[in-house]
Amino acid sequence: MQEYTNLLLSLDSGVLTLLINRPAKLNALNKQTVADLGTCLIEAIADVSVRSILISGAGDKAFVAGADIAEFAGLTPAQGEELARLGHQSVFNVIENSPKPILAAINGFALGGGLELALACHLRIASTKAKLGLPELSLGLIPGYGGTQRLSKLIGKSKAMEFILLGTQITPEQALSTGLVNEVVAPDELIPYSRNLLEKISKKSPLSIAAAIRAINASDNELKDQDQANSQPLPLGHGYEIEIKEFSTLFGSSDFTEGVAAFLEKREARFTGK
Ligand code: COA
Repeated sequence: MQEYTNLLLSLDSGVLTLLINRPAKLNALNKQTVADLGTCLIEAIADVSVRSILISGAGDKAFVAGADIAEFAGLTPAQGEELARLGHQSVFNVIENSPKPILAAINGFALGGGLELALACHLRIASTKAKLGLPELSLGLIPGYGGTQRLSKLIGKSKAMEFILLGTQITPEQALSTGLVNEVVAPDELIPYSRNLLEKISKKSPLSIAAAIRAINASDNELKDQDQANSQPLPLGHGYEIEIKEFSTLFGSSDFTEGVAAFLEKREARFTGK
């Protein structure tokens, strides 16, 4: 495996542990990290010695505290669209459709793009110290890496509405009771427990693991097939396409400029609806 600027990798008994490594910025997903993830995932999926992948965050504070807000500042709608589309195609969809199981071990903050990263994984294990949420509305945005689609599918529309509209910080207990995570364990147990799950899965046939993932994911594609039958090809599926459009349009709003400025200046945002 090659070395990556913002990832730490270790391979043991077929489990590739991939730590997102920008602890000083709470592992926020900047462009370099998204690029690293995209290349690393392709490499890991092709590598026969990798049976499964465990994604977690370096340091003891964060899994991933979101997309890098500093890189959002000043983006135009077209650049916002490019950012979202590149992320979907090179990382989030690759994880979801990986023939090898990918587990998110959520060790701390999993906010915005960080929670979306976990949502794209096949399994999610949270530590009792995890803090989850999709707070993008407070930046004058919406989730742009699949959150509006994957959260609803995972926990239902009603709870997804609540969590996204309120930007609720979701406790591990709430995450477990809504089905957002598969299990909650003590911080010390997070990596061993997650590894053990992946090792158990690895005892099964790689072919049937890949087939099960494809079959379970196939339910998401019904709408896409329908749209294609109406001769309107939508490469990412209808909901994801709408999300990208809505997300990117917001980059043209004053509220977005204000939301990002307020975060960077560490003050409360004053939104005007423009
Ligand atoms: N993008 C860019 N930088 C981020 C970041 C993000 N999503 N999340 C945290 N950081 C940076 C902070 O700016 C800070 O950098 P600095 O030390 O150079 O000022 C550093 O990481 C530590 O974060 P800080 O805010 O000081 O830690 P905290 O414990 O006080 O608060 C959070 C933790 C997670 C509550 C807070 O960082 C936060 O709200 N982050 C943004 C979450 C978010 O909105 N994510 C969705 C983005 S789409």
